[in-house]
Amino acid sequence: MGGVSFPQKIRIFDTTLRDGEQTPGVSLTPEEKLMIAKQLDKLGVDIIEAGFPATSKGENEAIKLIANENLKSEICALSRTIKSDIDAVINCDVKNIHLFIATSDIHLKYKLEMTKEQVLENALEAIDYSKAHGLTIEFSAEDATRTDIDFLKKFYGTICKAGVDRINVPDTVGIMTPKKFYELILELKKVVDKPISVHCHNDFGMAVANSLAGIEAGATQVHVTINGLGERAGNAALEEVVVSLELLYGYKTNIKTNLIYETSKLVSQLTGIYVQPNKAIVGENAFSHESGIHTHGIIKNPLTYEPIPPEFVGRKRILVPGKHAGKHGLKAMLKEYGIYPSEDQIKEILIKVKELGDKGKRVTEEDLINIARIIVGETAEKRKILKLKELAVVTGNKITPTSSIKIVFKDKQYAASEIGVGPVDAAIKAIQKVIDPIIKVHLKEYRLEAISGGSDSLAEVIIKVEDSNGNIASARAIHEDIVMASVEAMINGINKLLFKKGGI
Ligand code: KIV
Ligand code: ZN
Repeated sequence: MGGVSFPQKIRIFDTTLRDGEQTPGVSLTPEEKLMIAKQLDKLGVDIIEAGFPATSKGENEAIKLIANENLKSEICALSRTIKSDIDAVINCDVKNIHLFIATSDIHLKYKLEMTKEQVLENALEAIDYSKAHGLTIEFSAEDATRTDIDFLKKFYGTICKAGVDRINVPDTVGIMTPKKFYELILELKKVVDKPISVHCHNDFGMAVANSLAGIEAGATQVHVTINGLGERAGNAALEEVVVSLELLYGYKTNIKTNLIYETSKLVSQLTGIYVQPNKAIVGENAFSHESGIHTHGIIKNPLTYEPIPPEFVGRKRILVPGKHAGKHGLKAMLKEYGIYPSEDQIKEILIKVKELGDKGKRVTEEDLINIARIIVGETAEKRKILKLKELAVVTGNKITPTSSIKIVFKDKQYAASEIGVGPVDAAIKAIQKVIDPIIKVHLKEYRLEAISGGSDSLAEVIIKVEDSNGNIASARAIHEDIVMASVEAMINGINKLLFKKGGI
């Protein structure tokens, strides 16, 4: 990398609301887009690409809402080099335009049916028009990485002279390798005297590596999406690019990295696109340790197996009981629940956990605690700090679903009623209300699975709850009644949180 100087800060251009929304099956309402924009602003992205106004009326409404929200992030919108597209951007009250036109022979021949000269002329007209309206311009040569290099250099050189503020180099179909992209950016720097941005797609799983290579070559801005959402295999993931820049390269960004996880969760919830468990940084398993060797190392010093401190991205370390577990890991997990087995007892617990694992069962924390309690000699009943006494649910046509609940906590009865959008919602809200004076519980995740077929099938409910100190517990319950399965799972989860708090 001789001769390349690194900038102090890399600008983060977030396109979750534009390229990310082009993820197949994703369509956000204006209100949902605004919620995400506010979170991106809180996260600290430098610029938010709020959408593509030419797409639809709803898209216009969303972009306008975002543009008028007075966010700290700059707001930008995408536009073809067409006057009506540019007008649509202006009408959305957006001051930054992201203009694009394809430049590769393939796109020119089969999509645009235009010559290279026409494409350049078209781009120049759009630049003039945008400048005349006071817009800040970022310009992308779509499919840049499959464009004839001489034409690409001519194109970018000419538009820089015409007054664009920034150029963006899209690897539209993700065919770059880090080395090729690095060299391409170096080559373009010979003719470009404006800041360079990179935009990489993940078709070969190299979007992040290529983006970083582009930055190594001198790009000072990078296009990213939360959770790597985007067309086909997606775009470079914000979380992976930012954490790599900060921890591997020593660059700075304006991102508040401790808000990465909550942002990922919000985007996943609103788009309905689940994050794979082993996804870097934001996947459920990214900070979980199962094997005995690893958990032992982690307990002694997290540096042994944790290249990223979980708190850096707003997460917590999780030790998972499983067939690869070891004594030290299990001891550390049980300590959290106030269970201190002797050396002999922990050996016995370990054997039982491994037996379950060998049978192909996913061993949960709840399983581990059950095993430990039995071996340490306490009965299951005794450890139920909170018990359900009565539950009633009323639902039906033209009736607001309502639930009344009675619980027993430390020999005292508590009762509450709540309404909800459905019987499960009403019952869960009633539990949260009744337990509120004792512990504030937030339902983080809820999953319902049918175990067998038919209307009499068993339902399994898996939940994750969090208390106000950020302690998280997962729990599950099985019942033929969905409401009861949900309520029992909640009670189990709350009991775990109460144990973590030391039974209060
Ligand atoms: O991938 C791409 O080429 C794009 C352009 C609109 C910049 O998203
Ligand atoms: Zn793209």
